Amino acid sequence: MTKKILAVYPGSFDPPTKGHLDIIIRASHLFPKIIIAVTKNINKKHIFSLQERIDLLQKITEKLKNVKISSFSGLLANYLENINSFVLIRGLRVLSDFEYEFQMALMNRKLNKKIETIFLMTDQSYTFLSSSMVKEIAMLGGNIKNFVPECVEKELKKRVANLSKSN
Ligand code: PNS
Repeated sequence: MTKKILAVYPGSFDPPTKGHLDIIIRASHLFPKIIIAVTKNINKKHIFSLQERIDLLQKITEKLKNVKISSFSGLLANYLENINSFVLIRGLRVLSDFEYEFQMALMNRKLNKKIETIFLMTDQSYTFLSSSMVKEIAMLGGNIKNFVPECVEKELKKRVANLSKSN
């Protein structure tokens, strides 16, 4: 089949990590066009606003010409229908990710039977990495250089400094 596939990589990206970037690069080699779809995860408390997360993603992907950043609110299945895409990309780090990801993939397919989720495995050096852990390390004064792109490191340090001033 030579159909041109528009793939969507959804997530909260608060903040985007080197693990996310690894998945984005892998996906950009596989699909002609990728949309990174940023949203609010209602189960998480975000440290960066939606616009800030979009801006950071824009900066770290500027060299990837087939990657565009967008955002959505509400159901992912509806967003996909609206933009006429039915391929979702999700990253897998460790086996424990799988249960939640599998449930989400099947639920999205239940909501719209055209949706297929494709799992890409991160580089093994990022298997331990998560945005929540990076935020915690930054808040506790640890070194996050190896975990996030440089511009994210800078912004996260600023945000953490401001938060600790206001507390
Ligand atoms: O990066 P995250 O926080 O793991 O991404 C999870 C996300 C945002 C992709 C998921 O929570 C989501 O799709 N939210 C949109 C609302 C929705 O469609 N929920 C039902 C999912 S089955």
